[in-house]
Amino acid sequence: MRNLFLKAKMSLGVGEPMTDQIWDKFLPVKYQTLSPYQWTPISVVVSTWEYLREEKVSSVVDLGSGVGKFCLNLARVSEHQFPILGIEDRKELFQIADSLREKWNFKKVKFEHGNFLKEFPYGYSHYYCFNPLYETMKASHSIDGSKDKSAILFIQNLQLLKNHFLNCKIGTKIITYHGFGGSTLPGFKVLLKKELEFGEWMVWERV
Ligand SMILES: C[S@@+](CC[C@H](N)C(=O)[O-])C[C@H]1O[C@@H](n2cnc3c(N)ncnc32)[C@H](O)[C@@H]1O
Repeated sequence: MRNLFLKAKMSLGVGEPMTDQIWDKFLPVKYQTLSPYQWTPISVVVSTWEYLREEKVSSVVDLGSGVGKFCLNLARVSEHQFPILGIEDRKELFQIADSLREKWNFKKVKFEHGNFLKEFPYGYSHYYCFNPLYETMKASHSIDGSKDKSAILFIQNLQLLKNHFLNCKIGTKIITYHGFGGSTLPGFKVLLKKELEFGEWMVWERV
């Protein structure tokens, strides 16, 4: 895969051109096809970085990190300024993300295989969420058939997630892309709301 990248005369350096098409080529074909529906577009990572660069960021966590596209691209565009953690409960996706991290030697990025609803990573300054619970509600463009589709499960998981967010300390920020699953978030106020090219992007603050 590295050879393919070099052949295209691209590198992972900051400021070098990078597109979704190029980045997605590092993924197994079945995950390339899912990219527009499941993985954060690079333009959204860049918009997120434009917000974060004005913030005091101690650490960022991606809840449901998939193939690592958000974490790895955020590390790249931010020039590795802060630690980034990605948590993913599908083992294969975790392994893909972790192998890309290792390949590119991204020292401040870490991936964990786990369920953030069961073991929530408290203590981060910024949380990112690309609607990870949505898949329990809808059948189209699913990553695989491994998770039950159930409205009741969705509501239960949403409540768990809201409780975790409520337990975060004052000042914690949550960045959502295509939402987190609900429309209200008790204990939070909306700081920013933007309609980006591919979907709604918001920042919430624990107050
Ligand atoms: C829409 S994808 C976003 C992937 C990645 N954040 C990105 O932006 O490229 C949501 C991901 O969340 C994962 N996920 C859903 N529920 C999860 C949970 N409870 N714990 C860990 N991962 C979860 C899914 O497997 C999927 O990879």
